[in-house]
Amino acid sequence: MIKAFDLGLAGMPALITGGAAGIGRATALLLAECGAHVAIVDKDGAGAVALADEISHAGGRAIAVIADAGRDDDIRAAVAEAEASLGVIRVLVNNVGIGERRPMVDISVEDWRNAMEINLTATFLFSKLVARRMVHEGLGGSIVCIASVAGETGVLNRSSYVASKHGVVGLTKTLALELARHNIRVNAVAPGMVKTNLTAKLLSDPARMERSNAAHPMNRVGRPEEIADAVVFLASSRSSFTTGAVLAVDGGFLAGKDS
Ligand SMILES: NC(=O)c1ccc[n+]([C@@H]2O[C@H](COP(=O)([O-])OP(=O)(O)OC[C@H]3O[C@@H](n4cnc5c(N)ncnc54)[C@H](O)[C@@H]3O)[C@@H](O)[C@H]2O)c1
Repeated sequence: MIKAFDLGLAGMPALITGGAAGIGRATALLLAECGAHVAIVDKDGAGAVALADEISHAGGRAIAVIADAGRDDDIRAAVAEAEASLGVIRVLVNNVGIGERRPMVDISVEDWRNAMEINLTATFLFSKLVARRMVHEGLGGSIVCIASVAGETGVLNRSSYVASKHGVVGLTKTLALELARHNIRVNAVAPGMVKTNLTAKLLSDPARMERSNAAHPMNRVGRPEEIADAVVFLASSRSSFTTGAVLAVDGGFLAGKDS
């Protein structure tokens, strides 16, 4: 008898940041489909509650946790609330991210700090809190960080985003080294352009959409569900020998330029 393909995620407590919309929403839904118990952490309380209800009504298990990833106290409270409801977190998806498009000379220090706080410091603090408990319990786990192609290459007019995402890639590799002996794997996914709220305004301009398509050898942008598939692979036991990796899901963007 052929056995079903098992991802080992059934009943796993999972926490995803920025889970109410876009890539986070698609990932939360897929994790729930795979049987994980999902804490959807987002500052958009209504969106997080609606998604948790959607998953619960479909027979899955999910809770909404309202938190601003730019506030340390919120992050601490969110992890505590998720663990109190679901148990020790075994899968963490550091997804929350913001970005602005502006020449470096026009970026305020406040905006720069904000990008670092949300994209990099929140990734550090969620990882620290969750990993500490994973280590203590000795059960192992998986941390997946949503980086970007902007974590691997420069992008015009995106200095704060690019710098923070390079930071996420560096942090991912270093945490992988530190946590490997505890059977905690840490990997990143580097999406190319994906149509979400983050990019909706930009991609609503047909000329810009065409340029974005053309920047990807597959001549299109991605869908949130295509990123979620990669995240779930890295979260699951099917990637049990993969750590410190940065998986590009980018339609070939990072493979090189057409000569
Ligand atoms: N969309 C893309 O083209 C693309 C490409 C590469 C990488 N990424 C990365 O993927 C991740 C998700 O991006 P997306 O496009 O799905 O974004 P999105 O804007 O569609 O969704 C982001 C979610 O995060 C929440 N959020 C924003 N700020 C928050 C905060 N301070 N505290 C808590 N929640 C907050 C929002 O409410 C929303 O639910 C980000 O890290 C982004 O950098 C996106």
